Amino acid sequence: MGYEEMWRDLLPIGRVSGGGYRRFSWTAAERECRAWFAEEAGRRGLTLEQDRNGNLFAWWDVPGGRRDAVLTGSHLDSVPDGGAFDGPLGVVSALAAVDLLRERGVTPVRPLGIAVFAEEEGARFGVACLGSRLLTGAIDPVRARALRDGDGVTWADAMAAAGHDPEAIGPDPDLLAGIGCFVELHVEQGRALETPVGVASAIWPHGRWRFDFTGQGNHAGTTLLPDRRDPMLPFAHTVLAARDAATRHEAVATMGKVRVTPNGVNAIPSAVQAWLDTRAPDDAAVRATVADIRAAAEKAAREHGVEVALAEESYTQVVDFHAELRDRIAATLGGPPVLPTGAGHDAGILSAHVPTAMLFVRNPTGVSHAPEEHAEPADCLTGVEALADVLENLIAK
Ligand code: GLV
Ligand code: MN
Ligand code: MN
Repeated sequence: MGYEEMWRDLLPIGRVSGGGYRRFSWTAAERECRAWFAEEAGRRGLTLEQDRNGNLFAWWDVPGGRRDAVLTGSHLDSVPDGGAFDGPLGVVSALAAVDLLRERGVTPVRPLGIAVFAEEEGARFGVACLGSRLLTGAIDPVRARALRDGDGVTWADAMAAAGHDPEAIGPDPDLLAGIGCFVELHVEQGRALETPVGVASAIWPHGRWRFDFTGQGNHAGTTLLPDRRDPMLPFAHTVLAARDAATRHEAVATMGKVRVTPNGVNAIPSAVQAWLDTRAPDDAAVRATVADIRAAAEKAAREHGVEVALAEESYTQVVDFHAELRDRIAATLGGPPVLPTGAGHDAGILSAHVPTAMLFVRNPTGVSHAPEEHAEPADCLTGVEALADVLENLIAK
């Protein structure tokens, strides 16, 4: 099955009106993506395995066994109304790179694996890179099992409903020990890359925090303004404070998800739950930004007679990718641009355990996590060639 056919089969899965994707973990759309991957792996004679955490692997094995393997791949889940490339480009390119390596007659001396990591976006259960965090022991399985989606369904229940044993989740040192390095290809998500392909230097530190504003639900018509304890007001202050703090600390801060209770036009809300995503080039700037936003939220809450609580839901330290692997890849590709990113990736989680690198494919508009995300077909093919060159260099020697 050729490159275009892979996209032809994958692109309709989970696409919603408006052109974006909703491929949330353990839903029908994501299950279809997994089935698509299984089929593509099968067509190539790769050995498909699912680990205890719901991550998929397709292996091109060698006689010596699963030692010092070269792993590539990415993820197939999406943010709400996400683009076509964030995640899938790394998986499709990996499968296409295998085809190219075989056309070239490459005989691997190291096993080559293609990974599809589960819940990379954290769109359904809140913690990004959940599959790779579980694999590497970066999250307690007890906490992971209890993570809930917006309808109150736990990771454990969703996984069990999909036919997998949630009691088995957790670190997998044997699987990790067999991986020699990981190279993830990904669409670039800003406007920083001006050539078709680049190499990652670092991932900014980033985290997610949840604000719980609790006030008093009441009648929108009969409650006098001085009598109100409206949690929407300190929430609104907090949104603006996030923008100000990010500007001050040269960070970025986003409040893109909010849940209002009861969410009625003619009812003062009783509660507002809102999520903050903050990122910056260094840890101190992230921490200072969040501290300022928290102070602003607490002040506004006091002024409006509202309670506020802040919880850190996840945090990822700065990732500086493996210098030797990065340099080897850059040399293989003839000196492409090397650039950092503010986006999180499973590569960032794995980098604490195995030498890890990333290739980026140019994104002409820089739009990502939105239906308009785009990469030119010619750049994508250049990405496949680049990935094949890198993998050939790694598996054949
Ligand atoms: C994942 O794409 C993230 O950066 O949040
Ligand atoms: Mn993403
Ligand atoms: Mn991604």
